[in-house]
Amino acid sequence: MSAQTQGRRLNVRDLAAMKGDRPIVSLTAYSAPMARTLDADVDMILVGDSLGMVVYGMDTTVGVTLDMMVAHGAAVVRSTEHACVIVDLPFGSYQESPEAAFRAAARVMAETGCTGVKLEGGVEMAETVRFLTKRGVPVLGHIGLMPQSVNAAGGFRVQGKTDDGARRIRADASAIADSGAFAIVIENTVEALARSLTEELKVPTIGIGASLACDGQILVTEDIVGLGGDFTPRFAKRYAELGEELHKAVGQYAEDVRARRFPAAEHCFSPPAKGSGVKPRLAAVASEAIVAPGTKARRGA
Ligand code: KIV
Repeated sequence: MSAQTQGRRLNVRDLAAMKGDRPIVSLTAYSAPMARTLDADVDMILVGDSLGMVVYGMDTTVGVTLDMMVAHGAAVVRSTEHACVIVDLPFGSYQESPEAAFRAAARVMAETGCTGVKLEGGVEMAETVRFLTKRGVPVLGHIGLMPQSVNAAGGFRVQGKTDDGARRIRADASAIADSGAFAIVIENTVEALARSLTEELKVPTIGIGASLACDGQILVTEDIVGLGGDFTPRFAKRYAELGEELHKAVGQYAEDVRARRFPAAEHCFSPPAKGSGVKPRLAAVASEAIVAPGTKARRGA
């Protein structure tokens, strides 16, 4: 955190200024606890439409709705204060016209408080990106592999391997950058192409499966901490095995409940012994909120 940005949330100008200075660190978050955990360590949090697959168990991101993005985006913004929060526009909310895209983006920004939106697409989306950026909507582009187009592309494949493919991605990148995007995510793209795009573009490139050559990196957080299920993409490094930890904890809880070891005395409420003069630490008063000191009242309060 630099002296200039201390005590305030990073914005898209801060991210753009990191190009050539230091790598942009970004991860996804969809919920308040995850966002709180990431906030201090990352520059940008993306509320990605990957939440359709990661949180809702969908096969692709195509079924994600604007309502879902708004609900998760608001949770992430509410629980962070440092990282720049960008929310994905979901499939169907922006492709029809620049006006439709503006309505979707304006709703997302107004109802979540996020700093900007991300949308997938290249040359065909340039007009839309220009329309949004001219009207005060910061846009993060997304080219290379575009998961919302998985049905048209015939699967999740590495992009830019052929001369034709590389030429297309190059055209996409410059069209989106020229239209005012503050940065561009490059997904699943060969290293040589990611490197030359990063050298040529004035805006930062943020890679996911696009090599060290990019100006920054982004990954789905669940993929790097072992919460992404059985499949981990080749480009995601595993830093923890939280899925196994969670499984162990739940197993121990189940054993404790079945063996009647939980709840123990310290988890129970009882009235003070009559005449003891001792104030109850956890006196049971039917409607009283009972939470550990210093924590916010939550469910059951
Ligand atoms: O939806 C998403 O999470 C994304 C990133 C991983 C780039 O688009």
